[in-house]
Amino acid sequence: MTTTDVPWITADTTDLHELEEARDRSWIARSDRGYEVLRYGPGLSVLEHPGLLKGPSFLKRLDDLGIVDGEIRRRWNQVVTTTEGDQRKRMRVPLAKLLRPMQISKLRDTVRGIVHDVLDEIGDPAEVDLLQALAWKIPSRVYCHLVSAPVELAPTIARLSDSVLGPLLTNDRGRRQEFVDTFWEGLDFVREHIDARRSNLGDDFTSAMIRQQLAGDLTEEELHAEALAILQASIDNTVHQTAIAFGKLLEEPSRWQDVVGDPARIPAATEEAIRLRPRFNTIFRLAAEDVEIDGFPIEAGSWVYVSVRASQRDPEVFDAPGTWRLDRPAVRPMMFGAGPYNCLGQHLARLEINEAVLAVARRFPGLRLTEDWTTRETNAITEVTRLRVALV
Ligand code: HEM
Repeated sequence: MTTTDVPWITADTTDLHELEEARDRSWIARSDRGYEVLRYGPGLSVLEHPGLLKGPSFLKRLDDLGIVDGEIRRRWNQVVTTTEGDQRKRMRVPLAKLLRPMQISKLRDTVRGIVHDVLDEIGDPAEVDLLQALAWKIPSRVYCHLVSAPVELAPTIARLSDSVLGPLLTNDRGRRQEFVDTFWEGLDFVREHIDARRSNLGDDFTSAMIRQQLAGDLTEEELHAEALAILQASIDNTVHQTAIAFGKLLEEPSRWQDVVGDPARIPAATEEAIRLRPRFNTIFRLAAEDVEIDGFPIEAGSWVYVSVRASQRDPEVFDAPGTWRLDRPAVRPMMFGAGPYNCLGQHLARLEINEAVLAVARRFPGLRLTEDWTTRETNAITEVTRLRVALV
């Protein structure tokens, strides 16, 4: 195959049918913005290829939002998501230590307690906005626990995450000022919180980060960047994927009954929700040099977009790919990225979603939607906009 005879698709398309139709003709397509990779195997090859860089893709998001210079850009230029090489390693290794699976598995009881507290606070069980009353509350409270911040700050923390990640991921220029103001507010929060913690180190993430700085692994500014990265990355995405999991389970009542009847199936249900409705619809890279993927040449300077949506429904990898099934062989999702850039918080995100579903299944087995759940799709992400239920 050459670069001239691949299908052409709409850049920024949100139409799954268009993506799947192109995927069934070719694993790679072109669009006005670059290459579009539509199948699972080549998608992983792209995400893992050392010549295809993630840092520039995050910088592009900042450029697109109009964050191109000044102090705020200087600070963004040194965080894990925007950097490559040694600087990226310096920033990623301390985060990876905090978020490693062994550490996260110790949090199960805490997360379970947080979910039950959230459920205890729900008022009229006949009319519940599950997005606000549950999905938005869990990740911010878990964050407060991790960094040892008062739980009363959870709503503020949730806003600090949403007002930064929301505009950035949806490329919403109308929210640029909100992004800027919230960035500084978030930085002040982590700075004050870290300073207050210095004289009283414990076994929380903040103390561990301070120890990393004292050991010379991070500068003071990098410490703030690390703390802010956890705040921003840990909330929004988990909120929406939690809501998606409930939406997918409830839109077909027999799915909910399956997990109520056999809670051991919940992790498989979470994976199936991620596969069929990922929070991240596209992950992209920049070719730093001429590269070849499956013998196909991609020239230096090209943007390469991997469609999480199309590749997680690749019929070469998934039987009956559009069907909800809990007995699939384990295949790692594309949604958490791959290679040296993959999502460091994926174990925590899964823990939170699984515990949320488990607690609701045990306490409210009669859970049902009271109206259709709705989402807002962009090419980059899915946001849940409505998820109204009756718990009893
Ligand atoms: C369902 C929830 C989540 C989703 C959908 C998600 C998605 C992603 C994606 C797509 C990436 C980029 C991967 C790549 O480019 O290959 C990423 C990176 C990252 N995520 Fe997550 N994430 C989630 C939860 C979390 C949580 C809970 C945390 C922290 C506690 C977290 C921390 C990070 C960090 C630090 C990175 C940067 C890794 C790097 O650039 O080296 N994420 N995430």
